[in-house]
Amino acid sequence: MKRSVLTSLLFIAALFLQLPAHALSPAARQKKMSRYHLLMDRDWKFFLGDDKNASSMSYNDAAWSLLDLPHDWSIEGEFKKDAPTGGGGGYLPTGIGWYRKQFTLPISVKNKQISIQFDGVYMNSEVWINNHYLGKRPNGYISFVYDLTPYLIPGKNTIAVRVDNSVQPNSRWYSGSGIYRHVWLNITQALHVAQWGTYITTPKVSADSATVSVKTMIENNGQATSKAILTSVIYDENGHEMASAKIPVLVNAKASNEFSQQIRLASPALWSVDEPHLYTMHSVITSGNKIIDDYESTFGIRQLEYNNTDGFLLNGKRIKMNGVCLHHDGGCVGAAVPIKIWEERLKLLKNMGCNAIRTSHNPVAPEVLDLCDKMGFLVMDEAFDVWETGKVDNDYHLYFDQWYQADLTAQLHRDRNHPSVVLWSAGNEIPDQTKDKGVQLIKDLLAIYHREDPTRPVTTANDDIAADSNSTKLDFMQAEDIVGYNYADRWHERRELYYSIDHEAHPDWKMIGTESESLRNASAYSLGADSSKVRANYLGGLVRAELLWKFVAVHNYVIGDFMWTGIDYLGEARWPGKGSSSGEIDMTNLPKDGYYFYQSQWTSKPVLHLLPHWNWKGREGQIIPVLAFTNCDTVELFVNGKSYGIKVQEFPRQGNAYAWNKYASPPVNLTTADLHLTWDVAYEPGIIKAVGRKNGKQVIVDEIHTSGKPEGLRIITDSTILNADGKDVALIHVDVIDDQGNIVPDAQNTISFKVSGNGKLIGVDNGNQRDDAPFNLPTRKAFNGHAYAVVQAGRTNGNITFTVQSDGLKSSSITIKTQGAYSKLMAFEELK
Ligand code: GAL
Repeated sequence: MKRSVLTSLLFIAALFLQLPAHALSPAARQKKMSRYHLLMDRDWKFFLGDDKNASSMSYNDAAWSLLDLPHDWSIEGEFKKDAPTGGGGGYLPTGIGWYRKQFTLPISVKNKQISIQFDGVYMNSEVWINNHYLGKRPNGYISFVYDLTPYLIPGKNTIAVRVDNSVQPNSRWYSGSGIYRHVWLNITQALHVAQWGTYITTPKVSADSATVSVKTMIENNGQATSKAILTSVIYDENGHEMASAKIPVLVNAKASNEFSQQIRLASPALWSVDEPHLYTMHSVITSGNKIIDDYESTFGIRQLEYNNTDGFLLNGKRIKMNGVCLHHDGGCVGAAVPIKIWEERLKLLKNMGCNAIRTSHNPVAPEVLDLCDKMGFLVMDEAFDVWETGKVDNDYHLYFDQWYQADLTAQLHRDRNHPSVVLWSAGNEIPDQTKDKGVQLIKDLLAIYHREDPTRPVTTANDDIAADSNSTKLDFMQAEDIVGYNYADRWHERRELYYSIDHEAHPDWKMIGTESESLRNASAYSLGADSSKVRANYLGGLVRAELLWKFVAVHNYVIGDFMWTGIDYLGEARWPGKGSSSGEIDMTNLPKDGYYFYQSQWTSKPVLHLLPHWNWKGREGQIIPVLAFTNCDTVELFVNGKSYGIKVQEFPRQGNAYAWNKYASPPVNLTTADLHLTWDVAYEPGIIKAVGRKNGKQVIVDEIHTSGKPEGLRIITDSTILNADGKDVALIHVDVIDDQGNIVPDAQNTISFKVSGNGKLIGVDNGNQRDDAPFNLPTRKAFNGHAYAVVQAGRTNGNITFTVQSDGLKSSSITIKTQGAYSKLMAFEELK
């Protein structure tokens, strides 16, 4: 390991830095810190409505409610058919709301630079500190910072925020309303690294060594020119110092300067999808023996390459982007999403074989990108859904001209160190793509992207490529680094030929499926309303998804596809629906059948999933199609012990190897090469069982039982211990079961939830997009025999008791412990 050449004091500090901050008590932590990034989420006052006096320090907010951020007031409301936001916003209320917080700064931070950082406020936020107006930010998804230093006073300071989401409609999907992401207080010395002030890239990467390049923006808010030393120190995941570089810096008063350094790192641990190794850069400013600042940035060492023949290469290895598009809501918690929910969802997606995410159609919460870094996802980081021409009356097109440069630059500065971000998208189905002005706009936007981050390519998600009228301008596509296709199979013969038409016409183009049809699942199995006929609703969508994947899988030049969508989302609905069911995972984080289709194609572990359920009372003797998604060579289906025959699946089908009629692997002939298997079964209640074999050996079994009537409730929780930090959540599934423990797949019993002790219920759901009961009621009708609850820990050590009851069923209860672990994130209240 390379020893740094820091001063002895800095060396001691560096040793200290090897300890993860959250292993220390708040007091010990504070003693060691030269800057603070403090969570400012606790104890805000909130008022739903408008009051022009509420920005004033002397305003009396005693009657307002007290809450913790993140907070989304829309999700607390009722679904109403005539809601101004319409189906776009999921028929939930919007409006105007105010937040206020009073805080006193401890003497320890006197004369420091203090700024407030909002990670996302939807929308049109206006912020005041001590009666001083700090500014307005229309964009509801962007992170922004205001300097508070000149306006702070000893004693109580008052921050007031007005949020205006009243002018509707302004979005095509559910946005949420309010300060729905974290708020931070950043405290530094006058001379400091700017917020998002490092830009770390890895221009040379090999197994032996990597060159890490870092540009550091240092601001001097002081009255005099400052001279200091900037030492950039790289630590590995275990906190070991790996390499460093040192440079003298001089920054004039009230100015900022950028400093460049190159650091060589031997035997780098590369960031990849399977092994997402991360490094931490500490940008340490010292003057003499004093540490003035220590700014932390996480980064990864990896090499990206895109080309017109092999698609995408990560660290020199071709990898297909098996992606999904995601909107930003977290289901029943709305836009204020506890990180645990994203963790759970990303785990599920990873398990599905998904390796890529498109943040459709806006910047996401920064902690979601942190998770993608840690878990190894490739991210297409998207900025806008509209530019100058809008899609709904009051969307971002009203602000685009005035704000796009600032918003885009802010997004790039915030996100460009994330190794997971491998591609930028400047927009989704931008109406300007078909107009001359669109060609100029894409060029203007590209200039910003290339200026701020020359290391990643830029695409846009174009829907009207090859449309009969008003198709996307050729010059528009030619201008992009990578041409993005929304629904590559949409027009005419493209249904069969996909990307190949453009690949032949423009062999130099790099191509990606920015958005593609997923295997859209119906939310509940149905054989149709007429009980004398079988009209199964679970077959649609298969053919389109299978054909697309077959093409993309075997054409290397296609970088990959992003399915619409990975997870169901709120909004973009038609009454009585309130959200979209296009996901492979429902709003309660339950995989649907389509999930296993992708898993069977995108992973190599044995997969076998049978459908539909086997409760078809009254349809005895009718022929019901039974399907299996699998990657086994063969699957044999048994109904009540009787074999319905072996079916084989093979994709890609293999040709002869070595000689005529010889094959590299044991051949599985007689296949139509569908990506699903199907049997026609005359319904009889009992057990359907599928046995999957690979190379003749049984590797996996799936079975479904006809259930008896509902008898009880089963609770499955993801956690039995929560951090007592007022933020951690347990994600709890409740199944309606028969006396044998089988889920009753058509049960619709109303379930009541009771939470007592050190926690609270923050949302309930059942995955049914057509159920319009509010998410914050402590009851829910089961859907497909299932319901879901999110329980949040309080801030003291103790227990939470979670109980579910339903008339006529055996109730059930669990205990969850809440215990104090110092949160990795330091809260403002911990500052002494
Ligand atoms: C796409 C659009 C998405 C969503 C989807 C619904 O064309 O980009 O935002 O609206 O359709 O199917």
